[in-house]
Amino acid sequence: MNATPASAEPPEREAADPAGDGRPILSVSGLRKYFRLRGGSGGVGPAYVQAVDDISFTVATGETLGVVGESGCGKSTTARLLMRLIEPDDGEILLDGRDVGGRDGMSLRTLRHNVQMVFQDSYSSLNPRHTMAEEVRFGLTAQGVKRAEARRRAGEVLEFVGLEPAIFADRYPHELSGGQRQRVNVARALALNPRLLLLDEAVSSLDKSVEAQVLNLLIEIKERLGLTYVFISHDLNVVRFISDRVLVMYLGKVVEIGPVDRVYGSPGHPYTRALIASRLSMDPRRRIEAPPVAGDLPSPINPPSGCRFRTRCPLAEPVCASVDPVLDCFGAEPAHMAACHALVPGSGHSQAPGRDAGTALETGGSPP
Ligand SMILES: Nc1ncnc2c1ncn2[C@@H]1O[C@H](COP(=O)(O)OP(=O)(O)OP(=O)(O)O)[C@@H](O)[C@H]1O
Ligand code: SF4
Ligand SMILES: [Mg+2]
Repeated sequence: MNATPASAEPPEREAADPAGDGRPILSVSGLRKYFRLRGGSGGVGPAYVQAVDDISFTVATGETLGVVGESGCGKSTTARLLMRLIEPDDGEILLDGRDVGGRDGMSLRTLRHNVQMVFQDSYSSLNPRHTMAEEVRFGLTAQGVKRAEARRRAGEVLEFVGLEPAIFADRYPHELSGGQRQRVNVARALALNPRLLLLDEAVSSLDKSVEAQVLNLLIEIKERLGLTYVFISHDLNVVRFISDRVLVMYLGKVVEIGPVDRVYGSPGHPYTRALIASRLSMDPRRRIEAPPVAGDLPSPINPPSGCRFRTRCPLAEPVCASVDPVLDCFGAEPAHMAACHALVPGSGHSQAPGRDAGTALETGGSPP
């Protein structure tokens, strides 16, 4: 792996921190996406799946933000919104402070140069009729890169992800292993020299030893190219391993966000606590039976009023049904935030700390 794709930098790629002011590469506020259901709910009027509902977060240049949450909580929808594969109903997505479209906004083409996505299913992500070199070249020529340059760059990025072009460039997807196919997907994403990679369950379908190889490759690539990652996974151990911060989603909402050691060591939200308690230890000698979060995930078509977690929360009280809790900091670390009435002085929840006990929740072992 001695070639780097750096020389293949497309003209519209922004500098690592263009303004030099340390502002986030990505800033999301009030993002919302409801999917209208065909055929409606059987009741009056159309029905909507509230896939992503008023979420806000930032991603700092150079960091890895892990995103976790149960199946159906809105992780992939969020990634697809960030890539503009689907349009938001509401909210703002800023890359380096600039929106897509609008008078002063960036073009979709510039966005796609700067942000790329790697999906879970390495096989269906690849065209079965394309060789690996053609697969990587395809995205480049579609973005206007000349054929000779695209050919050169395809060889360069395949080599960069550890696939010797002389051996792999002319193979078809069915002639590769799952790990090799996922490397091609990473190569294809890197070919445009992006700054931000959205990795949606990118290692989840790989077996454990191959998963570790691809994870290490991702970490190495990130360091060498100065990339930023949004890393979506249902595997809390993998997220802890790779992330600087972690964002926890529940039924379309962000319920907790913070530095990974704080969230795993002192989780504030009862849902995060349940998730972390149920995760299997990486150390087989310390493995425990996973106590699941009690009850089923409610319908995203008709989510519970107030706090969406209340139907499964052991701490639920009347205030939880009437008021939607706001994501806010609750301890000594201002970057660690959760959305739970039991953490907020004066919220009306019986377990909320007193108004002068602002930093009461320093340990995550027992409920607030
Ligand atoms: N195009 C669509 N039309 C209608 N509903 C959709 C559509 N895409 C996603 N949804 C719904 O939106 C919700 C969130 O889906 P999403 O794929 O974002 O979940 P996820 O967190 O990525 O789940 P998983 O861990 O299973 O991948 C789900 O209820 C899903 O069924
Ligand atoms: S707001 Fe209420 S229901 Fe929601 S997590 Fe906190 S205590 Fe539980
Ligand atoms: Mg998904």
